[in-house]
Amino acid sequence: MFISVIGCGYLGTVHAACMADLGHHVIGVDVDESKIKELSAGRPPFFEPGLPALLERAMASGRLRFTHDVAELARPGGGERTPWVHFVCVGTPQRKGEFAADTTYVDAAVSALLPHLAPGDLVVGKSTVPVGTAERLSARISDRVPGAMLAWNPEFLREGHAVTDTQRPDRIVYGIPAGPGAARKARDLLDAVYADAIAAGVPVIATDYPTSELVKSAANAFLSTKISFINAMAEVCEAAGADVTELATAIGHDERIGPKFLSAGLGFGGGCLPKDIRAFMARAGELGADQALTFLREVDAINMRRRSRMVELAREVLGGSFLGRKVAVLGAAFKPDSDDVRDSPALNVAAQIKLQGADVVVTDPAAVENARRTWPELQFASTVEEACERADAVLLLTEWQLYRDLDPHVLGTLVRGRTMLDGRNALDPAAWRAAGWTYRALGRPRV
Ligand code: UDX
Repeated sequence: MFISVIGCGYLGTVHAACMADLGHHVIGVDVDESKIKELSAGRPPFFEPGLPALLERAMASGRLRFTHDVAELARPGGGERTPWVHFVCVGTPQRKGEFAADTTYVDAAVSALLPHLAPGDLVVGKSTVPVGTAERLSARISDRVPGAMLAWNPEFLREGHAVTDTQRPDRIVYGIPAGPGAARKARDLLDAVYADAIAAGVPVIATDYPTSELVKSAANAFLSTKISFINAMAEVCEAAGADVTELATAIGHDERIGPKFLSAGLGFGGGCLPKDIRAFMARAGELGADQALTFLREVDAINMRRRSRMVELAREVLGGSFLGRKVAVLGAAFKPDSDDVRDSPALNVAAQIKLQGADVVVTDPAAVENARRTWPELQFASTVEEACERADAVLLLTEWQLYRDLDPHVLGTLVRGRTMLDGRNALDPAAWRAAGWTYRALGRPRV
């Protein structure tokens, strides 16, 4: 297959490399020239486990290249040619001052592709978009290039697991055009792109445009709700002196509930879940179905409340004031195994504590550079030891394995006060208390 991938962020870069690794011929396109320079040299411009080796292999195969110039997709005219599949993988951030998604980049990507499309080509949207976008884009494409088609193929990858999630997703969803001819052609092209995963038994759900768009919004809404549900239970557990981690284990044994996405703590952040549930509410409002999603406001509110609760807890353990106190923050990325700091709960808490007068030092194994760019007013350290030196309290806010493995006895010799606030319920309270630490966590009893 001949494939282009428009937008080389977390999603597009991994998708492009995986497609080339499968044997397809791939061109990755991005307007950011510095990113293209890095990628062309085989260097991923962000941290993602497994990606450097995959990228190296794909580049060495000669089947993958990157460009900032979409005009490179132009091919010699005349004669029969193999149809191209163009994946749109650009971002849909939250609009400033609004809940709705900004689809400018998706529209721009389609506009840039239009001059290079030929009948039989397939544009495939992977970005998370408000329902109705695919219908609108499909009309633009077929008006300009009759015979060219659009499909929607939402992406469910998690950062930190992006390579395996792309190679072996839980399911593949196609939103395909309505007419039988176009539907067949689009489906055949997508089946050829994903032949390897399909042969391995990955289920395919082929449906209409709006359902495919809504599958993604619904999946993210459900995951967010599950996290906020357990965090709401954490609030009740704290009030009742109960332990939310044991509660989660117990309810997770019920197969109907399941144990995943029930880790209580500082809640969700990142470039997807927070903005996607807000965009979903905004779109439902536009469609006159706002009441159906009012519960997502509560999901969002519970999530944001976890951050303020963490700040309160830190102030409480420090005797009611942050003034003159040193606080070490372990973790800056929004989750472990990522250098992504977009809407990072850890940095949000660190900044609030700094604003309230503490001397805050943040460390992270991968995200310090990104964090420094976004929060230049914070102080950063490259190691746990440096961050924790003479700290009055240590806050574990992103559960990297490195932090889970910390030895309370060793860390105890560095700090001024043995106070550990575990914002991710990642540590063993008994071990830390036995080493003389005051251990506090969200949703767990004091002692
Ligand atoms: C998410 C979806 O999982 C993915 O399917 C979609 O394509 C994009 O959005 P991602 O943002 O990479 O992926 O991270 P995810 O692993 O879902 O975690 C999101 C946030 O929830 C993180 O901040 C994480 O720390 C938090 N989380 C997750 C919890 O607080 N508790 C949990 O039990 C699970």
